[in-house]
Amino acid sequence: MQINPLKNFSRELETAPDKSITHRAVMFNAFARGEAVVTNALLGGDCRSTIACMRSLGANVTVDGSTVRIKGSPVFKDACLDTGNSGTTTRLLTGLLAGKNVTATIDGDDSLRTRPMKRVTEPLSLMGADVTTTDGKVPLTVRPAKLHGIDYVMPVASAQVKSAIILAGLSAEGETRITEPALSRNHTELMLSAMGADICSDGTTVTVRRSELTAVDVCVPGDISSSAFLIGAGVVTGGCVTVKNVGLNPTRTGILDVLKSMGCIITIEDERMGAERSGTLTVKSAPLRPFRITKEIVPSLIDEIPLLATIACFANGESVISGAEELKVKESDRIATTVKMLTAMGGDVTPTADGMIIRGKGGLKGGGKVYACGDHRIAMSGAICALGSELGGEIDGAETASISYPGFWEAIC
Ligand code: S3P
Repeated sequence: MQINPLKNFSRELETAPDKSITHRAVMFNAFARGEAVVTNALLGGDCRSTIACMRSLGANVTVDGSTVRIKGSPVFKDACLDTGNSGTTTRLLTGLLAGKNVTATIDGDDSLRTRPMKRVTEPLSLMGADVTTTDGKVPLTVRPAKLHGIDYVMPVASAQVKSAIILAGLSAEGETRITEPALSRNHTELMLSAMGADICSDGTTVTVRRSELTAVDVCVPGDISSSAFLIGAGVVTGGCVTVKNVGLNPTRTGILDVLKSMGCIITIEDERMGAERSGTLTVKSAPLRPFRITKEIVPSLIDEIPLLATIACFANGESVISGAEELKVKESDRIATTVKMLTAMGGDVTPTADGMIIRGKGGLKGGGKVYACGDHRIAMSGAICALGSELGGEIDGAETASISYPGFWEAIC
């Protein structure tokens, strides 16, 4: 995909529906009592993997446009599950199946096969689960077991790990308590609570007890992580972007705090407070200052770091990202792939053990080729680099954007 440079990308538009919320709406309703309708569902590659897995386990899931109807199954069937590229499907399903009377094998694509699963299987084993992995990775197999609650302090802040333990806790004897080092996205807690689960949160600790769920309809807001690329296109080209109906859950809005600190002008209108906060978000570009991202705020912007590193090249001065070693175990090693992408486009970036240092020069020369390395967020960040640069650029592997944002290329061209 060849991307030409652009000045003043200014648009008012909607973005792709939220990936995290779509996964959860499909998965949780698939084992709840009753029927549910999920509207404005994301049908990107990852969420299609979740739908296919829930069908294989016995749930009745039908798709009509962006509406997904789910009739839950109280008893799951034994199955071989292909979770594709999706870490969220893999980790949440592992937790969900651990306490069900089922034997299931989970496997995925080459990228997924490199990603660590012990962070999930270790706490689940402490709960009594019978889970075996392939050297700590997929393929993994879950077998029937009786679970009991644990008090678990997570070594890393991760919504996927937290959610897996919570889901296991729904079928465990007694109470399960999970404490994170920093609060990761809390969509699981909010949705399970709306479905009648016995769950409560206090700061970075979640407590859950055995519960049955009642199906709940979900209207999925836009994904702030997908909106971020449109906003980024505006910021690096001197434009102003308005995204309507976007999710604004405070555990996801770290990028807005960083953009504000860089000088961008941010307004939120039509704010709605359902189970999830949403609204209309406008971000107007301005002369950009460099930023510092440290450990405490990383979970609230973890998926936006390749894009923020891109934007940092358009500021004047040194931006520093630290406390983000989790980037190494995403769809690609995002410290390495982000540095490679920015360097190819003329950026001055140095990787560190837990992040990177970006010496912004107020813009990028461009003219290079970005390899997506099978990572949707690198492909889309590369596009934003190219749009804001002097010479544009080429993206190799552009099709991977459809994992989280089908329609991305049309939205930015
Ligand atoms: C996700 C959690 C995040 C994020 C991923 C989606 C989720 O991972 O990177 O894209 O839906 O729970 P961790 O919180 O596990 O780091």
